[in-house]
Amino acid sequence: MKTCVFYGSSTGVTEDIANRVSKLLSCDIFECSQIEKSKDYDLLILATSTWGEGDLQDDWDSALSKIKTTDFNEKKIALIGIGDQDSYGDTFVNGMKTLYDVTKSKGATFIGTTSTDGYSFSTSTAVENGMFLGLVIDEENQSDLTDDRIKNWLDSLK
Ligand SMILES: Cc1cc2nc3c(=O)[nH]c(=O)nc-3n(C[C@H](O)[C@H](O)[C@H](O)COP(=O)(O)O)c2cc1C
Repeated sequence: MKTCVFYGSSTGVTEDIANRVSKLLSCDIFECSQIEKSKDYDLLILATSTWGEGDLQDDWDSALSKIKTTDFNEKKIALIGIGDQDSYGDTFVNGMKTLYDVTKSKGATFIGTTSTDGYSFSTSTAVENGMFLGLVIDEENQSDLTDDRIKNWLDSLK
């Protein structure tokens, strides 16, 4: 399956995670502003941080406009959400849910949900049926768990 990572990142945290994932998969990686390149891939890994009060990272705004005019019926999507559960525990990784809603409305199917076990937050729109919609990384509070979380998630995608 031809795979590519797209990311939006304000201070470089999501960019770093996206790079680590693409290296482990030996796959291409682009900033989300280049989302039109998604047409060449089967599995799209979309990574975003969350800002404001549960907002999608800014760079995704223009990418979302492009996504809204694209057919994703043949695409599989795996989401990565980066956030801070201690400081923003009531909007934890909400940006991932925004990406989910828009790409779902364009026909995408999703893989890579993960357990909420091991995280401590009060609410997140990125939880559905008790599971996160994708891989969740918190570099502020749990960076020591990141390597294992990435590895286990990639194993589960295979
Ligand atoms: C002003 C501000 C607002 C934030 N809002 C949220 C939020 O609502 N939910 C969340 O999970 N993280 C929130 N965060 C944490 C960021 O998502 C986190 O720092 C992330 O690592 C930044 O990644 P980036 O550098 O790739 O953009 C916020 C951080 C700041 C500074």
